[in-house]
Parts: sequence; C-alpha cells; structure tokens
Amino acid sequence: MTRIFSGIKPTGHLTLGNYLGALRRWAEEDQHRADALFCVVDLHALTVDHDPARVRRLSRQAASLMLAAGLDPQVCTVFAQSHVDEHARLSYLLECVATDGEMRRMIQYKEKSVRAQAAGQSVRLSLLTYPALMAADILAYRADEVPVGDDQTQHVELSRDLAERFNQRYGHTFVIPKATPPAVAARVMDLQDPTSKMGKSHEATAGIVYLLDEPEVISKKVMRAVTDSADGVAYDRAERPGVANLLEILSACTGKEPEVLADSYDGYGTLKRDTAEAVVELLRPLQTRHAELSADPSYVDGVLREGAAKARALARPTVDAAYRAIGLLPPA
Ligand code: AMP
Ligand code: TRP
Repeated sequence: MTRIFSGIKPTGHLTLGNYLGALRRWAEEDQHRADALFCVVDLHALTVDHDPARVRRLSRQAASLMLAAGLDPQVCTVFAQSHVDEHARLSYLLECVATDGEMRRMIQYKEKSVRAQAAGQSVRLSLLTYPALMAADILAYRADEVPVGDDQTQHVELSRDLAERFNQRYGHTFVIPKATPPAVAARVMDLQDPTSKMGKSHEATAGIVYLLDEPEVISKKVMRAVTDSADGVAYDRAERPGVANLLEILSACTGKEPEVLADSYDGYGTLKRDTAEAVVELLRPLQTRHAELSADPSYVDGVLREGAAKARALARPTVDAAYRAIGLLPPA
C-alpha cells in the first residue's frame, strides 16, 4: 500500500492556504487511499525566533484543527514530531549525506534568512539544516508520496536526492519519495499582496484568512482583497494576480474552473461577495468541530499519544537500518 507522509508546522495560526493546499486533501482523499501519517512538525517551529508557550499552544491547536478538518485517527496516524525520537536521530545522518551548498540553495532558507537579518535577528543554524530534518520525517517512514503545496516541492526534491545518495553509498535503505501537489489551490496568495503566499508566519494579517477567524472577519478580509483597475473579470495569474487568487479560492470552494467562473462575473463586487460566502461556508463545519475538540484537550492528547506509538514502531526499524548501513556499531 502507498505510504503518505505530510506535516504542518506550528509557527502560527493555520490559514485558508493550509486548508486548501494541504489539510482538505489529506482528509478527503489521502487518508482513505493510502497508509497515511500526518504530523505536527513542532521541531521545525524552533528554526526561527519562538516563544515556548506559543509553540506549545499552537501545536495542540494544529492537532485539533487537523482532526476538525476530518483526519480520522482510526484511519490515519496523527502525531507530534517531537514525540518520536527517530526524526532527530535520522536527521543527523542525513546532515552527513547532504552538502552545505545544497542546503544554502534552498529558496526558503534564502528568503527566511534575509528576512531574519532585515529584522535584526540572528539566523539559527537549524534554519539551514531544516531540509535534512524534513527529509528525515519523510524517509524514516519510507513514504512514497508527500502531499504538499508547491512551496515545498524543492524540499521534497532534496529529500529524494539525499535518499538516492544514501542508498547508493551505503546500500538500499530508503524509499525514494515524490511530492504530490494539489490540483487546485496549490498556492493560495495573500489577499493584500497577491504576489506572495498566504503564510501563517507572516506579520500582517489583513490579507490572511485564518481557519478560526469569525465569519464577519473572513468576509471583511475577502471584500477588502486587493484587485486591480482593469475592467471586467478575467483569469490571468501573471497580469492580474489579485483577481486570479480570488477566482482560484472560489474555484477551490465550488469545484468550478477559474476560467469558467471568470466568465460568469462582470465586476469585482459580486465576485468578492460570493467568494467570501463560499469561504465562510467551507470553514463553518471545521470551526464547529474545532470548538468541540478544544473543550476536550485530553482527547486530542490521547490521539497524539497513540499516534506517536504507531509512528515510532514504523520508523524505528528503518532508522536503525540506516545507522547500521552508514557504519555505526550496533549497541551490544
Ligand atoms: P506550513 O504552513 O508551511 O507549515 O505548510 C503546511 C502545508 O500547507 C504545506 O503542505 C504547505 O505547502 C501548505 N501551504 C501553506 N501555505 C499555503 C498556501 N498559501 N497555499 C497553499 N498551500 C499552502
Ligand atoms: N516544511 C514543511 C512546511 O513548511 C513542513 C514539513 C516538515 C513537512 N516536514 C515535512 C511537510 C515532511 C511534508 C513532509 O510546510
């Protein structure tokens, strides 16, 4: 059976981008067609300046939103990365297979390190080595597929390279994974800055729809989305990114093609109103379920505990095999 692994990092409140680009597909398709593991990748949240209490809170909230979005612990494995030692254990070996050059070429590293420096913060070494940990997440479970938004495909490519290199040098140990981007909404853009991704770690919030925003707040954000001054509604990502983003969001909510939707609108007002309404309705059941789950944190903790036990049992043999293959002495 196909094995799937994906993760979400608790660096901020989850956004509509996380839902349309990741969570929804995990819940509706991936968990049912494969042996799937979904992870709150909390160690990754420590690669940038962080507040311990906030990371703890966001980790539990991410887990509960994953369940609210429809991940079913009877069907798939939901767990926290830091509860399974194998991730960090394998990450070190992969750092010994990766090169400094290939880590520095990662777009996310370049962008985030520039941003940190501009804000007068130091760049943590773990931001550079992040892709080795991400590769470890994937390779430890011998995952075949990694469903991620297109901002993460470069990291999955690197995971493939590291797996191939390791296998070639030290003997066949890892499955070579591939990224599987979603068909629509691979990249939901910021409503105020439609040339950049709607990201949960960003500072400004007017362009970001959070999964737990109140319906009125969602409507206001969508109604105030930046468009352009051209006449009529047309789908053109390069020339008219704001309108294209709204059409793609509406498309993801309704299942209709953005080009078809563009033809059915004359002006931005109605397009925005329909998009706002569609997003509010899309998120309503998730918000209701989240409210129920957050009233019962011990349930969520129990899911994470059982998930970690299952994940550990899967990862340990592969990580042990990697330790032997690379030349480390087995414990007596
Ligand atoms: P992150 O928020 O970086 O932890 O990402 C978790 C998952 O959500 C990854 O699969 C991302 O590719 C996906 N994702 C995050 N932001 C967006 C976005 N704006 N559009 C589409 N997918 C996204
Ligand atoms: N780096 C991913 C992101 O920023 C999160 C992540 C960490 C991940 N480990 C992973 C995604 C393994 C898929 C598989 O979105």
